[in-house]
Amino acid sequence: MRTEQPKMIYLKDYQAPEYLIDETHLTFELFEDHSLVHAQLVMRRNPARGEGLPPLVLDGQQLELLSVKLDDVELTDADYQLTDSHLTLHPQCAQFMVDTSVKIHPETNTALEGLYTSGSLFCTQCEAEGFRKITYYLDRPDVMSIFTTTMIADQHKYPVLLSNGNPVGSGPVEDGRHWATWEDPFKKPAYLFALVAGDLWCVEDTFTTRSNREVALRIYVEPENIDKCQHAMNSLKKSMRWDEDTYGREYDLDIFMIVAVNDFNMGAMENKGLNIFNSSAVLARAETATDAAHQRVEAIVAHEYFHNWSGNRVTCRDWFQLSLKEGFTVFRDACFSADMNSPTVKRIQDVAYLRTHQFAEDAGPMAHAVRPDSFIEISNFYTLTVYEKGSEVVGMLHTLLGAEGFRKGSDLYFDRHDGQAVTCDDFIKAMEDANGVDLTQFKRWYSQAGTPRLNVTEHYDAAKQTYSLTFAQSCPATPGQTEKLPFVIPVALGLLNANGEELPLHLQGESAAVGTHRVLSVTEAQQTFTFTGMAQQPLPSLLRGFSAPVKLHFPYSRDQLMFLMQHDTDGFNRWEAGQQLAVQVLQDLIGQHQRGEALVMDPRLVAALRSVLGNEQLDQAMVAEMLSLPGEAYLAEISEIADVDAIHAAREFARQHLAESLHEALWARYQANREVSKATPYVAQAEHFARRALQNIALSYLMLTGKPQVLAAALEQFEHSDNMTERLTALAVLVNSPFDAEKAKALASFAEHFKDNPLVMDQWFSVQAGCTLPGGLERVKALMQHPAFTLKNPNKVRALIGAFAGQNLINFHAADGSGYRFLADLVIQLNAFNPQIASRQLAPLTRWRKYDSARQALMKAELERIRTCGDLSSDVFEVVSKSLA
Ligand code: TRP
Ligand code: ZN
Repeated sequence: MRTEQPKMIYLKDYQAPEYLIDETHLTFELFEDHSLVHAQLVMRRNPARGEGLPPLVLDGQQLELLSVKLDDVELTDADYQLTDSHLTLHPQCAQFMVDTSVKIHPETNTALEGLYTSGSLFCTQCEAEGFRKITYYLDRPDVMSIFTTTMIADQHKYPVLLSNGNPVGSGPVEDGRHWATWEDPFKKPAYLFALVAGDLWCVEDTFTTRSNREVALRIYVEPENIDKCQHAMNSLKKSMRWDEDTYGREYDLDIFMIVAVNDFNMGAMENKGLNIFNSSAVLARAETATDAAHQRVEAIVAHEYFHNWSGNRVTCRDWFQLSLKEGFTVFRDACFSADMNSPTVKRIQDVAYLRTHQFAEDAGPMAHAVRPDSFIEISNFYTLTVYEKGSEVVGMLHTLLGAEGFRKGSDLYFDRHDGQAVTCDDFIKAMEDANGVDLTQFKRWYSQAGTPRLNVTEHYDAAKQTYSLTFAQSCPATPGQTEKLPFVIPVALGLLNANGEELPLHLQGESAAVGTHRVLSVTEAQQTFTFTGMAQQPLPSLLRGFSAPVKLHFPYSRDQLMFLMQHDTDGFNRWEAGQQLAVQVLQDLIGQHQRGEALVMDPRLVAALRSVLGNEQLDQAMVAEMLSLPGEAYLAEISEIADVDAIHAAREFARQHLAESLHEALWARYQANREVSKATPYVAQAEHFARRALQNIALSYLMLTGKPQVLAAALEQFEHSDNMTERLTALAVLVNSPFDAEKAKALASFAEHFKDNPLVMDQWFSVQAGCTLPGGLERVKALMQHPAFTLKNPNKVRALIGAFAGQNLINFHAADGSGYRFLADLVIQLNAFNPQIASRQLAPLTRWRKYDSARQALMKAELERIRTCGDLSSDVFEVVSKSLA
């Protein structure tokens, strides 16, 4: 284990590497009980670091060093220094060669970082710092090298041997073994290295680039999954075309491969030419994957493919710059998904997710800037802030510069920095240079953590016919940052008259009106914009499309919100008005519950949703989104102190009340859509997603009425659907219903039917983990004993434990602290074999400041217990210690 205390690393301490590695030649000998890695590194002194030959400090962890040579001379113990994290050599000239041989144990690697086995496959995960668990190396992204990789393994067990780049040779060797060599012509950092060996089948296709090069596309999976690859293949081809059309970016190798593995810490990894995916992010077909899963596959395939430019051709100088590739690539995949499906619905879903989860992170003890300035364990910084808020920051640039200006900036960025490892400043500089603008103040989004609050007030002057909006921004303190300077906040807006028509926007001081929709740049702590020619007082539609990741406050009345729900020309803001109305109504109910009063719901919310439900003109996916009340986790996030019992009671009361009040309309739309679904083969396309979304939310409301014909409908949908979207919703509504016999029968038949499909069993676990009926913890504990469950598989942990602690607030936050104790026990167990997963599962406990003092004490006690349990990984150490600081 570790011998030193984990230590903090600072961005301000960055220095270029002392040495460079021009070529990396690797040979892997893969065996069942160990593997051997031989590395030949062609190295030289980094001229940027000047004269002299300082010691060469190579990273290496959990490696058994067998031999080391410097320029072909075998070194003895006296010639080098070895610790559990470094090998130090003493080169004698500016150019030299290092040869090492090490022994490693992929077969017992449960952390799923470095070279490991997943079932009968060998695979790798090197980002961020996993390559040092494969061989001694300069494992940092600013050291870029040309890689040649040879693998030698049993021919029968591992017929397929893959690595980055192009295959250059293969053949048999003695003892039933064989070899294959791959060469990657592009320089890359070690974190993009990949290797796969196993008995894999592949689905093949081709893509012709716009300059007429043919690229072979291959998706490799275990044989039983060969029928679940077509959706990912279609998504890949669409992504390749989209990146050419939208960014002018072409693929650069002759072959692009995706491999699906069952044991994977994250969604997928963009290794050059050889993406490795969590099987949950590749496999999808109607019978086994929901609409949401299909959309997730499409988005992740695109995300990893887009990294070929935003991440691989232009990479990060150091890990503080992670959002340079991740924020930008999430922005790219979000635009892609918007183009492939419904842009408004995609935006609604992303914003709801950001506001629930990233805002909570930004308000907690792990809050950090999009470009953090320190970390202990980089794996802890693959966060909602770096990814999702990072994407919002890129999106704001897009809004401020316009599509064309943004494209000029991205073209310059890719051209200027091709083959380099760069910083977020270089990205901004390219945007500035291409557009002749100054983004100095904008860059505060990269350095200041926390979610800004934007308070807006209005003033109408009837005599002068002017209408003023005053914006006041502030940002709460976050760890290490007490004072914040004003951000550049792009506020997209429109002004509506009493008929719901958009008014021309003529700002005082400008010569004429500029359209009816525009983007104001709020740059001061307080700033007023005055519109002229306002014959009547208008109603503002603010922050359209959620044009900045802020908490906006404007004192809308409920009637005004209902008006915006009907009339706003911005679809996103129509939804947003409905959400704000629902939040106000739910907050009333929460207060009533807390005061012990009878719950009485504002009839305006019922009326508003009744008219949404009756509007046949509206996109059905929009209807479904508007019918969805803000989630419990979001209601907790916007509370000063979250009262989980009151939130749950209030939201359930509202759902019940809506179900009863809107019963007829819900039933009509349910039946109409279910009839179409029955008559239509499954298609993974927006209009079909929309129909099923409305059908399913209608069913989940209807079930609350407990009517026999609804139970019959749920059972019919469960038994006769040809697709997982309908079947799983039917199962979920049964699981959350009081119909115990039907529920038990459905769960049993589902498990029997899908017992051989681990991804479907994950959904079965999740549905039960999310059941908010009393007794949640006991159900989860019982499910952990199920033969299909194992803590060793991250998807299983997320499906059961993650869903319980993250989504089932009422059960997880049980007042006796049993949920907290359970989670802490699990984190302690996971810490011993998979630190990345342990640390991620810990997140719900870090939010202790949100809850009442009794719960705070219980949560802190569990964090304290983890902190002192001994042998903590740096991952878990960082999160617990910061949470208790
Ligand atoms: N770069 C990957 C992405 O596309 C993230 C990733 C995959 C990762 N596996 C990982 C990060 C393991 C840390 C550890 O977003
Ligand atoms: Zn990524």
